Amino acid sequence: MSGASSAPPMVRAVIGNPNPGGRTTIVGEAVAAAIVDMLGGAGGATETIELAHIGPHLFEWGNEDVKALTDRVASSTVNVFACPTYKATYTGLLKAFLDNYGNDGLAGTIAVPVMVGGTPRHALAPEVHLRPLLVELGASVPTRGLYVLDSEMDGLAAAVESWARGAEGQLG
Ligand SMILES: Cc1cc2nc3c(=O)[nH]c(=O)nc-3n(C[C@H](O)[C@H](O)[C@H](O)COP(=O)(O)O)c2cc1C
Repeated sequence: MSGASSAPPMVRAVIGNPNPGGRTTIVGEAVAAAIVDMLGGAGGATETIELAHIGPHLFEWGNEDVKALTDRVASSTVNVFACPTYKATYTGLLKAFLDNYGNDGLAGTIAVPVMVGGTPRHALAPEVHLRPLLVELGASVPTRGLYVLDSEMDGLAAAVESWARGAEGQLG
């Protein structure tokens, strides 16, 4: 697995939000930063990928920009898949991106399911919807998912810290 090597960890926040730069991006970046801290090691880095920017090309099979992006995400140590909750689940944008992978296309990577939503009714969405999708692609999903309410953004640092404490030792 790429995460098991001694190479510096690359942690990507993959944002499945048609509305780039929103709360979902802030949450995804906070989780990615916490993971780099947790993994330690010199040279660890984070990168944010806004899927909204590639959205118009996702259904052009064979598109080279899409291929380059799927390859980049598949080369991560850890991918934080951060997505707003739409209709009780992840967005069509995230699914359309992940549909570009073949079976086990994310094998060798670790994935962390993170969702942001307006209602606590959908708090299990990262576990019951996003986790199975990532597992189907062969990613290892060793931690709990994280669900953050829009109304909890003021307490984001504490929520991410609490999640990171629970994930300690599970990410390699
Ligand atoms: C089309 C649409 C559908 C939504 N459906 C849900 C939903 O089913 N459950 C929920 O908790 N929030 C829902 N929301 C609220 C968003 O999940 C929430 O406001 C979003 O995560 C805000 O993040 P952003 O600032 O990054 O866009 C919906 C929002 C939109 C625009």
